[in-house]
Amino acid sequence: MSAGLHPRAAALVRALADGRFRSGTELARALGISRTAVWKHVERLAALGLEVHAVRGKGYRLARPLELLDAEAVRAAMPPTAARRLAALVVHDVVDSTSEWLRRQPGDGPAACLAECQTAGRGRRGRRWVSPFGAHLYLSLRWRFEASPTALAGLSVAAGVAVAEGLEACGAHGVGLKWPNDLVHGGAKLGGILIDVAGEESGPADAVVGVGVNVRMPAGAAAELDQPWTELAALPGPPDCSRNRLAGRVLGALVGALERFAAEGLAPFVDGWARRDAVAGHEVEVQGAGWTLRGRALGIDTGGALLLETGEGLRRVTAGEVSVRGWHEAAG
Ligand code: BTN
Repeated sequence: MSAGLHPRAAALVRALADGRFRSGTELARALGISRTAVWKHVERLAALGLEVHAVRGKGYRLARPLELLDAEAVRAAMPPTAARRLAALVVHDVVDSTSEWLRRQPGDGPAACLAECQTAGRGRRGRRWVSPFGAHLYLSLRWRFEASPTALAGLSVAAGVAVAEGLEACGAHGVGLKWPNDLVHGGAKLGGILIDVAGEESGPADAVVGVGVNVRMPAGAAAELDQPWTELAALPGPPDCSRNRLAGRVLGALVGALERFAAEGLAPFVDGWARRDAVAGHEVEVQGAGWTLRGRALGIDTGGALLLETGEGLRRVTAGEVSVRGWHEAAG
């Protein structure tokens, strides 16, 4: 684990990772600290969203066993060619945001950042991305494109298809895509993608693709969410919920997709989007800055824009927030 969590708190997480009770005395001895210090570290972990049960006479245990992220295990789950493309793959225990961290790093080689927990996880439209410790997938991938930033308009579509493929490789069935970059299942949000692009008008463009996927929602975190959500563990199957394997599959698919997008543009991804398009055929409302459009979603065009059949004819929407009529009632 890297800096961001007190080393003793990190050691405490490891000592409790198997989900079994450990007494305060046993933990204090193993960590070389007092029982009071153990309690303080437990409180710190709880503040990061980790559910720790404290039971008089038994000690402490995690609400459920925890598979900690491990860079080597993530690489091992990636196709070797994709793993070799990454100049760096860094795992943090606690970080402000995996995307912000990558944006601060010098260099321009492909690099990935994952974290157990984000203290300032960012969602679309300035929203906070709730990121409890060890519960979900929070990962970002930095990629340099020789093209200009405007040529990356369809990147969120390519990234959405790639993330869905990565989850499917772990046995997730029925993952849908909601334009522009939500992962959904049964009308509820499973994850989201946030892309930051920087660069000169004539290129190159540096993109950081940030991906958040709900794996197993802790009870405390659910209360903070303001829209219907779902989690991988609740999907039929259920899929393989090892976060290391999920991260490896998703990253592997993303690396392959970004390479292909750089060479061929959006065209190779349009069919993959259409197969998973969760809003096509539905009556939707699209909200932009100061405008609202209502109509029937008809899928995306070859530029990645949403096509909308409205009372005033066909509209091509390049930005906005989509809500689908009937979904919230069904999922909530
Ligand atoms: C959305 O609002 O749907 C997009 C959410 C994107 C969240 C991910 S988690 C990893 C990366 N780091 C961030 O701060 N945000 C993205």
